[in-house]
Amino acid sequence: MLSGLTDSSYTDNDNNSGSNRPTVKTKNHMQKQKTRLIIRNTQLDDIPKIVNLQKESFPYLARYGNIWHPDELESHLQLFQKGQFVAVEPDGTIVGSASTLIVSLKPDYAEHTWKEITSDGRFTNHSPNGDSLYGADISTHPKYRHEGIGSMLYGARKECALRLGLRRMIGGGRLFNYCEYADKMSASEYAHRVIKGEMHDPVLSFELDNGFRFIKILPNYLDDVRSLNYASFIEWINPQHGRIINGATSN
Ligand SMILES: CC(C)(COP(=O)(O)OP(=O)(O)OC[C@H]1O[C@@H](n2cnc3c(N)ncnc32)[C@H](O)[C@@H]1OP(=O)(O)O)[C@@H](O)C(=O)NCCC(=O)NCCS
Repeated sequence: MLSGLTDSSYTDNDNNSGSNRPTVKTKNHMQKQKTRLIIRNTQLDDIPKIVNLQKESFPYLARYGNIWHPDELESHLQLFQKGQFVAVEPDGTIVGSASTLIVSLKPDYAEHTWKEITSDGRFTNHSPNGDSLYGADISTHPKYRHEGIGSMLYGARKECALRLGLRRMIGGGRLFNYCEYADKMSASEYAHRVIKGEMHDPVLSFELDNGFRFIKILPNYLDDVRSLNYASFIEWINPQHGRIINGATSN
């Protein structure tokens, strides 16, 4: 069982290393994180609760049925249970979840869509010998946001990448508020203004704060009225990958 709280390797410094955000926020709230919530690997009987959580967390995507279906979540568990995480309250309520697979991109920053990189949501392209942990989705129930739960889920994913000796974690984060600015600027300008700290985006700002670096815009990533289908290609480099330990590399 993983607990995002007890994982002291995810300190403020680690959260901000690699981020291309110029101002480093002091994460005083890290001390205020919920102490009784746990992050653990998903189990089969969590699936109905995750589906309900998805409806609350992704109301726009849910309108089109574009959220996890039980058979997809079952497929993730069969292929890579160690990469599937839930955040659980002491009473058993699931308030957050994250789904993950391993891929290798050729070239490293190849443009892709969500459907392509997740095998249409089933993760059948999951490659245990790949080099990159791929974040297919992450969500926290709207009533539980801004309590550090999303960051704890990312902490569990980082721990997974470290344990498996993966080179990096990557993903496509939907540009959540871009629909409110699309008549004023391009998706790229929007992302760069968020990176500069001139604007806040609930997804991209959160990812930058969790140590990710913005690589480029992925157009047509996901059918999504919020982002107008634009996502930011994000990358977190495993700081331990390839590190020389007693004369031998760790990987
Ligand atoms: C993106 C998402 C997962 C973040 O989840 P979360 O649990 O709110 O994440 P955190 O609490 O760790 O961080 C969110 C913000 O709260 C702040 N925060 C964290 N703990 C806090 C606390 N105790 N007090 C005050 N603020 C806090 C963080 O600094 C962060 O601020 P930022 O946006 O400036 O980076 C959530 O907003 C969500 O589910 N969105 C909808 C689904 C979605 O679009 N997912 C991403 C694409 S797949």
